[in-house]
Amino acid sequence: MDRDHLAINRDIWNADAVNWVASAEDRWRQETPVWGNWNTPEAGLDMLPADMTGMDAIELGCGTGYVSGWMARRGARVTAIDISAEQLATARRIAAEHGAGITFIEGNAEATGLPDAAFDFAISEYGASIWCPPRAWLREARRLLRPGGRLVFLGNHPMSLVCSPLDGSPCDRTLHRPYRGMWGADWTGVTYEPTGICFNLTVSGWMEVFAETGFAVEGYHELYAPEGEEGTRGAVPADWARDYPVEQVWHLRRG
Ligand SMILES: C[S@@+](CC[C@H](N)C(=O)[O-])C[C@H]1O[C@@H](n2cnc3c(N)ncnc32)[C@H](O)[C@@H]1O
Repeated sequence: MDRDHLAINRDIWNADAVNWVASAEDRWRQETPVWGNWNTPEAGLDMLPADMTGMDAIELGCGTGYVSGWMARRGARVTAIDISAEQLATARRIAAEHGAGITFIEGNAEATGLPDAAFDFAISEYGASIWCPPRAWLREARRLLRPGGRLVFLGNHPMSLVCSPLDGSPCDRTLHRPYRGMWGADWTGVTYEPTGICFNLTVSGWMEVFAETGFAVEGYHELYAPEGEEGTRGAVPADWARDYPVEQVWHLRRG
C-alpha cells in the first residue's frame, strides 16, 4: 500500500464523524460494555479487566471515546488517541457530560509520541486495529506497554474480507479475494459506500506479526451475529454473519 493511508483515513473520519454521534451517545450510556457491530456482550469476551483501579490504560484510535469511558468507570487513568479532530470533538463533549476524566490526544496511533512503558493496558475496537498497518501500530503498542502489559483488540475477521465483493457491496457467500497474501483493502474508490484504507491479515499472518513485535497470544475469539438480528451492518448481512465469523478479538500480552 503506497497511498497515504493516514491522510486519507483522517479526512474520511473528519467528514463522517457527524454520522457517529447518535450511536456514540448510546454506547456511552451503556453500563455494561457491548462490542463491535453486533453488540457482542462483554460476558465471555472479557475485553476489559473487571477492576481497572490504578491502571494506566490507552485506547488506540478511540473515535467517540466510549471504550475509554468504560475504562475510566472501572477506575483506570485513561489516555485516548485519535487522528480525527472531529471524532475527538464528539468524544470530548460526551466525556465532559459524563464527568469522565480522560486525556484525549489528537495524533497517530502508529507514532503517538508518548513515553515508553507508560501503560498497563491497551485496547482498540475498530480503531488502529483496522485503520493502521499491523506491524506499525503493534510495534507502537508494545513500546507503550509495560512488561507483562496487555493489549486487546477487535476488528473485522479476515473471512469477511475474502467474501467482500470488489465494488464494496455487502459480503456474500462467494470467495471474491485471495486469502493468501491478504494485506487489507482500499475502499476509497468503490461504488458502494466508499470509505478509507483498512488493514487485515490472514490468521497466520497476524500470529507472525505478534511474534515479530513481541506479543504472546493469550486468547482469540471469532464473533458471529446473534440470532434474531436482521439487516446489514458494516457491509455485512446478519444471515452471513451468523454462518461465518464477522469479527475477531485478540488478547495479547507484551513479552
Ligand atoms: C470506528 S472509529 C473508532 C472506534 C470507536 N470504538 C468508536 O466507534 O468510536 C475508527 C477511528 O479510528 C481513527 N483512526 C484511523 N486511523 C488512525 C490513526 N492512524 N491513528 C489514530 N486514530 C486513527 C479514526 O479517526 C476513527 O475515529
